Amino acid sequence: MAGKSWLSRRRTLLIVFVLALGVAYTASRSSAPKVDPAEAHRPSRLPDRIILTWSGDPATTQSVTWRTSTDVTTATAQIAEAEDGPGFAKKAREIGVTSTPFTSDLGDALYHTAHFTGLTPRTLYAYRVGDGTNWSEWNQFRTASDRPDPLTFIYGGDAQNDVFSFWSRLIRTAYKTAPETHFILHAGDLINRANRDEEWGEWFRAPGWINNSVASLAAPGNHEYDKGPDGRELSRHWRPQFAFPEHGPAGLEESCYSLDIQGVRVVVMNSNEKHEEQAEWLDGVLANNPNRWTVLSFHHPIFSAARNRDNKKLRETWKPVIDKYRVDLVLQGHDHTYARSNLVTGVNTRDTGTVYVVSVMGPKMYRVEREPWMTRIAEQTQLFQVIRVAGDSLRYEARTARGLLYDAFELQKRPNRPNRLIDRVPPAPERVQSE
Ligand SMILES: [Fe+2]
Repeated sequence: MAGKSWLSRRRTLLIVFVLALGVAYTASRSSAPKVDPAEAHRPSRLPDRIILTWSGDPATTQSVTWRTSTDVTTATAQIAEAEDGPGFAKKAREIGVTSTPFTSDLGDALYHTAHFTGLTPRTLYAYRVGDGTNWSEWNQFRTASDRPDPLTFIYGGDAQNDVFSFWSRLIRTAYKTAPETHFILHAGDLINRANRDEEWGEWFRAPGWINNSVASLAAPGNHEYDKGPDGRELSRHWRPQFAFPEHGPAGLEESCYSLDIQGVRVVVMNSNEKHEEQAEWLDGVLANNPNRWTVLSFHHPIFSAARNRDNKKLRETWKPVIDKYRVDLVLQGHDHTYARSNLVTGVNTRDTGTVYVVSVMGPKMYRVEREPWMTRIAEQTQLFQVIRVAGDSLRYEARTARGLLYDAFELQKRPNRPNRLIDRVPPAPERVQSE
């Protein structure tokens, strides 16, 4: 009897122990259900996903795009020159709006676009968007100068994965570092799955009102492409939610475009398709370029920074045009690592010099394949860039997610000669895993 009771006590103890382990394990893992994405990203009558872009001249125009539920029957936008007090609102003029019905994987919505035109250069404006009753806040933006005045812009590589969780601090630190920025340039793979509304919702939520106040430019990455009825197609979200220039080659409206801002020609290209057509288009865009500086951005790098990711055909098709017109800076993404060149010359000429950058903002990381062309590299590092152009000088800074300076150089223009590059790499050690 005594033996049996001892055995049963031991069994009971064992069961209690196992149960306690189970409770501890469950407590360490949240059992809370995930909020339904359709609920988390549901549109309403209140405008959301508000973003400034340009379809025309940044000195005299500004475009804005936003989203609402399909309950909205009349969308409208108002704009006035900003003033120190609230009186500006009474002077606001109303602008016609184009509304596009859109059905995503989460449901129906409306995307709206307003183009503010005839604006005065170097002027602070206040604007709001809404349905006449339900309005956004009054947001402010400043038009660009119509002269080659000093220009600041932010650039970054792929945000792509866990965008709300891991990219928010990047884009916010970038804005805090350079609040004077004239625009933010995204070099593709903004999100991971081209037509997932939830991911676009995260992409718009992370910067919040920064997108309402500073214009964005973006190139599509391979992750903005998905299978369509006729092969791989640009995300259906792209054109309704952005208002980029439409003067690219046929079929690449809003994904291949250029604009001039304060003495800089910024060219954004779509490295996913139609490489030959774009090389020809680029030749035309750069043949007649009165700007002192030319910056080019697209997703797939001309010189890859990671193993087995060479884009030979792209390099052979686009680099001759880049060399021919001495493009100053090429800003790219795709390789989930950081690599920055010195002045790269042409195949047949040393009379050129272009700096190539591959960078990443998001948390997905690859190893760097070290190559002789690389001046500064990093692994496992989320970076953003601040670029400042003033007269004959272009200053580039790459900063980490904590805002720390990781790489820097200056380009100086010299008449009829390649740029002079002055390296300003800080003493911080190279962030690479042991090779
Ligand atoms: Fe990527």
